[in-house]
Amino acid sequence: MSNSNSIEKDYTISLELKHRIRFTKDAFSGANRMLAQLLETNGHAKVLVFLEQAVAVEFPQLKEQIEEYFKGTSGLIFKGVRVDVGAEECKRNEKVLRRVWDGIEEEKIDRHSYIFAIGGGAFLDVVGFGAATAHRGVRLVRFPTTTLSQDDSGVGVKNGINAFGKKNWIGSFAVPYAVVNDFNFLHSQPKKIRRDGLIEAIKVALVRDRDFYYWLEDNAKFLCDLKPHFLEEAVERSAILHAEHITQGGDPFETGSSRPLDYGHWAAHKLEQLTDFELTHAEAVSIGLALDTVYSWRTGRLEEDDAKRVLDLLVTLKLPLYHESYELRDESGRRKVFAGLEEFREHLGGKLTILLLKSLGQGEDIHSMDESLLEDCINMLKDYSDEEEKVS
Ligand SMILES: NC(=O)c1ccc[n+]([C@@H]2O[C@H](COP(=O)([O-])OP(=O)(O)OC[C@H]3O[C@@H](n4cnc5c(N)ncnc54)[C@H](O)[C@@H]3O)[C@@H](O)[C@H]2O)c1
Ligand SMILES: [Zn+2]
Repeated sequence: MSNSNSIEKDYTISLELKHRIRFTKDAFSGANRMLAQLLETNGHAKVLVFLEQAVAVEFPQLKEQIEEYFKGTSGLIFKGVRVDVGAEECKRNEKVLRRVWDGIEEEKIDRHSYIFAIGGGAFLDVVGFGAATAHRGVRLVRFPTTTLSQDDSGVGVKNGINAFGKKNWIGSFAVPYAVVNDFNFLHSQPKKIRRDGLIEAIKVALVRDRDFYYWLEDNAKFLCDLKPHFLEEAVERSAILHAEHITQGGDPFETGSSRPLDYGHWAAHKLEQLTDFELTHAEAVSIGLALDTVYSWRTGRLEEDDAKRVLDLLVTLKLPLYHESYELRDESGRRKVFAGLEEFREHLGGKLTILLLKSLGQGEDIHSMDESLLEDCINMLKDYSDEEEKVS
């Protein structure tokens, strides 16, 4: 029915957004001209670099190398390197975010200029949010430096910080100008972090690409030993699968309820919060992924053998299947982790939608979970995990 009191006009804003992803080594060596070709060197664009402290410590020459790189690159105005703290701590309050805004203001970074963010997933989330909100969005070039940020979060289109005790409560969708996965950064991470980040590669393989999953299984020993070539291949294939899903999956800004890339994440986010982030994102995802895999089997979707293969792969890669925070219960005796289902729905909006596996490489959306069956699955994973500990 038309409304005679109103004028109604619905326009469609068409956006031509490019998601530029590059894989390289030694992006800031003078001989590597990839960056110079990637940026618009028009003579007035500025570049301000935010570098995570832990990375600056591992690569003491990096700051100087970046300075040298820009000395040898015409058409850009270099505004220096600012070193700041990263890791989950930087997402827990606004201190680093404010310093990012300060830097953008002090150096007069405008929408034609570039912010470079070099660091792990947490640091990229904070600098990314700063860049997305300053002047309603200045160009961001991400240089992820961990396995997880190179194989997943860095190629995404989101940013954010934590608030109200919840992950990523404040944040925005913003397509970065570019993402540069420089493999050199991978090999300086502490071994555990380097290995744990492979969980997002396993996740994306399970929901999108059976052949990649088999490749991960076949090469699990090399991956566990962190052989550089295998780690780099896993990261590259995972990053491409994530980017393809985001750019070709039909819902880059997550307006629908289906979130295959969040397989295992409803429990993961809650466990991170329940442990006050003592569990890292990667560890929590491994535990949450194990739970949803066993649940997929116990609800008759996934073959038992396939579910056990997944658990075995996690164990081979020294990833956890269970954590004692599962045992925390509220006054009514309900496991606290189950509140993660409602929080997951709330964060996405719409109807609760959880992805389960039908087979290795293929998922199926469901809209409710049976808590007593989840209890059984958790107990099973606890026993399995205890057994594994005895064996090792
Ligand atoms: N925006 C998104 O779409 C998205 C998606 C998934 C995860 N995330 C977020 O990413 C974060 C996790 O990222 P992460 O796993 O990279 O963890 P992280 O950023 O906490 O980094 C892990 C640790 O490694 C250190 N580090 C980083 N690079 C290093 C290097 N090259 N050498 C040595 N040490 C290094 C960091 O200081 C930190 O202590 C979480 O906050 C998570 O919520 C965001
Ligand atoms: Zn994740």
